[in-house]
Amino acid sequence: MPKIKKFSALEILDSRGRPTVKAYCELENGISAAASVPSGASTGSAEAHELRDEEERFNKMGCQKAVKHINQEINQSLRGREFNYQSDLDQHLIQLDGTHNKSNLGANAVLAVSMAFARANAANNHQSLYRYFAIIAGSDLQYLPRPTINLFSGGKHAGGQVQIQDLLMVPTQDSTMGVLECAYSVYQSAAKLCLDRYGMRALTADEGGLAPPFNTIDGMFENAIESIESAGYVPGKDVFLAVDVASSQFYKNGKYHLNDQILNSDEMISNLSEWISKYPIISLEDGLAEEDWGHWPMLKQSIQEQCLILGDDFLCTNPERIKKAIETDSANALLLKVNQIGTLTEALDALQLAKNSGWQVTISARSGETEDHWLADLAVGWQGDQIKIGSITQSERLAKYNRLLEIEQETGLGISKLAIKN
Ligand code: PGA
Ligand code: ZN
Repeated sequence: MPKIKKFSALEILDSRGRPTVKAYCELENGISAAASVPSGASTGSAEAHELRDEEERFNKMGCQKAVKHINQEINQSLRGREFNYQSDLDQHLIQLDGTHNKSNLGANAVLAVSMAFARANAANNHQSLYRYFAIIAGSDLQYLPRPTINLFSGGKHAGGQVQIQDLLMVPTQDSTMGVLECAYSVYQSAAKLCLDRYGMRALTADEGGLAPPFNTIDGMFENAIESIESAGYVPGKDVFLAVDVASSQFYKNGKYHLNDQILNSDEMISNLSEWISKYPIISLEDGLAEEDWGHWPMLKQSIQEQCLILGDDFLCTNPERIKKAIETDSANALLLKVNQIGTLTEALDALQLAKNSGWQVTISARSGETEDHWLADLAVGWQGDQIKIGSITQSERLAKYNRLLEIEQETGLGISKLAIKN
């Protein structure tokens, strides 16, 4: 691997129009590469620290400080050095930052550098990025991840009109284009249903999900089933559902404030089990709150035969939290978001812990995204069972779907088998 010539960075805007970080890595042999990083809205409290400026511009969401950290400290410390492995570069960044949550340099600065280096390293080896990721993970490329695609939204990604954050469709076709074709039809019939039922063209949420004023949570599920049927598909056969309850967002003082109900954890679990038995849900994300450790094992016991118990804010792609969840038998699937932890190497530890325990892994975008499509390469290279990108509208989402189509064409691989057992 040639020496690093320079790291630099630029403040760019994400899909919410907020600043984020794009980093550039130049090698001494003339190879250069860039990567930009996403940002969440419904974040877990154990996430690595995303550094934002204190100045008023962009509502105090500026990233000039993070950019400066790349242009100055990080560049000064890395230039002229040689890193043969991704883990060497990432370890150097972790030490340079020196905090447990990257609050010094900022996880946004650190991840942009980690990712730009990955691209430069892949280019230097004349490898596509997904093959580079497969090599660092020691994975065999056997399948493509199955897309789980946002249909309806609520919670923090919409106006909070209903508390469930994402209702996703999981088409069962075995090619990416087949899945997208199905998702397109269902999305179109859902858009028409919204117009007929709610008398308006539904607003779309951060990830492009439709966000009409559902009367109830059951209404949201029923509208999804109807949309699948009117597109000519059979729910529970051609299309399943996945749900991101994002329940930490409405958990206060030990209770779940679910629309007009106030539920304790046992009642919340009964509610979730009822949805699982009524609707063809194969993946339930953050069904309980991130601090509600005591009840996750019970949730798992009650629904694991039908559905994945997926931890997002609960686990925060954090190896320590994942270890605890394995020990306490609290989940059986990891939602992996690299910027929750800050470097590729630490995210890889999280992935391997989950996979070695027989868990499924869903590799996920954030609600604030850029047009960069490294996520598709990562999900293939790390053999994610599912990928969660957002709806099939909005170019920051399509950049990743389109990249999956390219990888599909190049590799000829089929999509992973559907996660469920029943
Ligand atoms: P976020 O949402 O990027 O706003 O955290 C995505 C999710 O909760 O899965
Ligand atoms: Zn989530």
